[in-house]
Amino acid sequence: MNETTNTPKKRVLSGIQPSGVLTLGNYLGALKNWKAMQSEFDCLFMVADLHTITIRQEPAKFRQQIYNTAAMLLSIGLDPSQSTLFIQSHVAAHAQLCWILSCYTQFGELSRMTQFKEKSQKHADNVNAGLFSYPVLMAADILLYASDLVPVGHDQKQHLEISRNIATRFNNCYGDVLTIPEPYIPKIGARVMSLQNPTKKMSKSDENVNAWVGIVDSPDDILRKFKRAVTDSEGCIRMQPGRDAINNLISIYSTVTGKSPEQVEQQFEGKGYGEFKVAIAEAVIEEFRPIRENFEYYIKDKKELERIFKAGAESAAHIANRQVGKVMKKIGFVL
Ligand code: AMP
Ligand code: TRP
Repeated sequence: MNETTNTPKKRVLSGIQPSGVLTLGNYLGALKNWKAMQSEFDCLFMVADLHTITIRQEPAKFRQQIYNTAAMLLSIGLDPSQSTLFIQSHVAAHAQLCWILSCYTQFGELSRMTQFKEKSQKHADNVNAGLFSYPVLMAADILLYASDLVPVGHDQKQHLEISRNIATRFNNCYGDVLTIPEPYIPKIGARVMSLQNPTKKMSKSDENVNAWVGIVDSPDDILRKFKRAVTDSEGCIRMQPGRDAINNLISIYSTVTGKSPEQVEQQFEGKGYGEFKVAIAEAVIEEFRPIRENFEYYIKDKKELERIFKAGAESAAHIANRQVGKVMKKIGFVL
């Protein structure tokens, strides 16, 4: 219950793929918001490992990435006594509901997904059916828990929209069974751009390592990457249309410190880019210091990680299995 309004808390679900190193972009665009949401909402956060095999993974590396992502959820301050933290593949109902919902999803609507078009171009040698039906699995993730709100970055909005369409189509056949989820636009949040090419999103898959900052990068690396960040020749620290590099740096500093862009502009009035970059690096290093320390602690004890995430999966499965049962009963399956 929400203690102030005495109404049930809204349900929130989100997921992150264990597809590699987590970056400042993942942190400011997703993870930091999750932490901010956990007291206000009834939250479930998962490591979306089933989604990751749409692209071929090397088994040992994949397994390590799942542990790393799980450890990172704890390290940023998600609290398993407050939120349900789990690994998607530990709850079989995700794959089960995915199949069912795929029979309520049209070929045409999946063909229009931008991410499918982009990824099938990038991995042209492996355009598998999983890549195509990726949004159906995501719809299953969301609809299994009757989620009211789904915090997602801009790139996932289209997938949320198709989840809403699938749920509405299902409800039109069988009555009010599925909760139609709303996208959640976080209070804090930013689209973090590459430090080397500020018209591109910061992404760990960038071949230039100076383009992105990892959450567990060493302080020296973080400082070096910000010092090398591209700027422009204007020489002043002010947000203006078209000044992608400076806008990105101001936005990063502002999101990390909680200061408004105007306050940041005032603080650095008359100062040079060099000084500004060092200040950003220092703020990011301080933000990440406790996370990095926590990460080193959690990643050492895989048994403990497994214990925490298995307990989470058990609570999640309890909700999810009931929902699948309800859906199957409506369709006419013999239970
Ligand atoms: P990905 O690592 O691309 O699977 O993304 C995981 C989550 O982090 C998603 O919610 C993305 O929207 C978010 N995200 C990834 N990169 C960025 C970025 N550069 N800026 C903001 N959010 C991001
Ligand atoms: N597809 C999301 C991404 O790549 C991750 C994800 C999987 C997700 N299932 C979800 C996000 C359910 C929100 C809700 O970022």
